Amino acid sequence: MEIAEVLKLADELIFAKTGEHIDYLQKAILEGTFQGRTYPKIAEETHSSEGHTRDIGSELWQILSEGFGEEITKRNFRAIIKKAKFDNFSSAIGRVGRDYVAINNFNICQERARSPTEPANPQPTSKQLHIDLGDAPEIFRFFDRTSQLSTLENWIIHDRTRLIALLGISGIGKTTLSLRLIDEIKTQFDYVIYRSLRFSPTLDATLTNLLQIFSKQSEIPQNIETKISQILDYLRKYRCLIVLDDVQMLFSSGQLAGQYKTGYEDYQLFFKLIAEVCHQSCLIFNSWEKPREIARLSKEYRPVRCFVLGSLGEAAKEILKSPKLSDEETWSNLIDIYQGNPLWLELTATLIRELFGGRVAEFLQCEMPILDEGLQFQLSLPFGRLTAAELAVMVHLANQPESVAVSQFFNKIPFSPSEIVNAVRSLGNRFLLEAIEEEKITLFSLNPVLKQYVQSRYLSN
Ligand SMILES: Nc1ncnc2c1ncn2[C@@H]1O[C@H](COP(=O)(O)OP(=O)(O)OP(=O)(O)O)[C@@H](O)[C@H]1O
Ligand SMILES: [Mg+2]
Repeated sequence: MEIAEVLKLADELIFAKTGEHIDYLQKAILEGTFQGRTYPKIAEETHSSEGHTRDIGSELWQILSEGFGEEITKRNFRAIIKKAKFDNFSSAIGRVGRDYVAINNFNICQERARSPTEPANPQPTSKQLHIDLGDAPEIFRFFDRTSQLSTLENWIIHDRTRLIALLGISGIGKTTLSLRLIDEIKTQFDYVIYRSLRFSPTLDATLTNLLQIFSKQSEIPQNIETKISQILDYLRKYRCLIVLDDVQMLFSSGQLAGQYKTGYEDYQLFFKLIAEVCHQSCLIFNSWEKPREIARLSKEYRPVRCFVLGSLGEAAKEILKSPKLSDEETWSNLIDIYQGNPLWLELTATLIRELFGGRVAEFLQCEMPILDEGLQFQLSLPFGRLTAAELAVMVHLANQPESVAVSQFFNKIPFSPSEIVNAVRSLGNRFLLEAIEEEKITLFSLNPVLKQYVQSRYLSN
């Protein structure tokens, strides 16, 4: 049997069992397994967590086993499929289909249960696109991010994901990517809205702002519960794409990552409702801190996903072209040192242009990395939010020549093991730590830019 046939059959089995079509991750697991890839590799390629990928995988094998009447696992899937004939399995759908009737009795979100012949991407419900990008920055240039755009598009259009957290360190390109995504998929929606929360508006103010877009003439209710319920009505009635940017501005300073400031806790409930309640829209929020509840939500509810944005990779060379830098053969090295972070590279490229006449090779001969003043300011923003224990972990790490395990912090810094463990996890949720999975141990380290920043700001006399 060919993989295309397997995917078609799996789609029909999954639909018969759950009333939903095969989603992006399930498809990636089947294709990846067929091609001999491991769960960690599939998770990496789909920007999903390994745990989530394994969970979805085991559900998938169970559905396939029930359908085929023999145990199918990740280990034997390929062998079974290779010797199978499509016709032998067509009766499987009927077997699993019986369950669907029972499951469907509990399916409170009826509109998600499409028939297999219905298109996976229904047309927008109205012809007119309302687009309000508010004070979104204009994007003058955009390089690559092809795979990231296609993953996000798949999640939104194909999988009908309702809530996406677009996460990553400051300057990595979240705002730019989300605006480009809007540009690519806006015609699939009735309403497309972008709002930045950079001035920390209350939920009440944000909801009022959104309702003004939906209901231009009608009166906006006073009461926050009514506002939430009206927004949810709009999200049900219309297909909307809403991007809320700079969500980190809702979180506290001096506390572990992702804790809402006093007076902002109701955003947590709002995001939970967006995930839980049945509607046909998608809310993306961008943040350089991972909200605490999102990991749990993305485990519990299928329509919730986290996307962590990383290096721009080789495409970052395009950024180095406009300030007319020379020594192109050394650019990959520069990109590696500055983590492929577009903002860090833009700032450093200007410095190289101004002080080194654009000669990257000469710049790289200095003790690396050199941190431009603008870059130091950028880094001071997340560091200004750290707890004492987090800062102690960063300082200890900046002193280590090698990566270290969590237990190696114990007794080295004046905090209890619980405080240290929580601090390490929180630093991960701020994207300030690199974690490497070795065979039996997880090791942590700082990237060269952060290491240099900590050494110069907290360790030099
Ligand atoms: N794919 C890209 N192509 C070209 N330039 C990019 C790309 N991504 C980001 N940039 C540039 O990098 C800079 C930082 O990008 P952006 O503001 O999107 O980052 P961010 O992750 O939203 O940062 P913050 O968390 O601080 O808001 C901008 O000047 C932007 O133009
Ligand atoms: Mg941004």
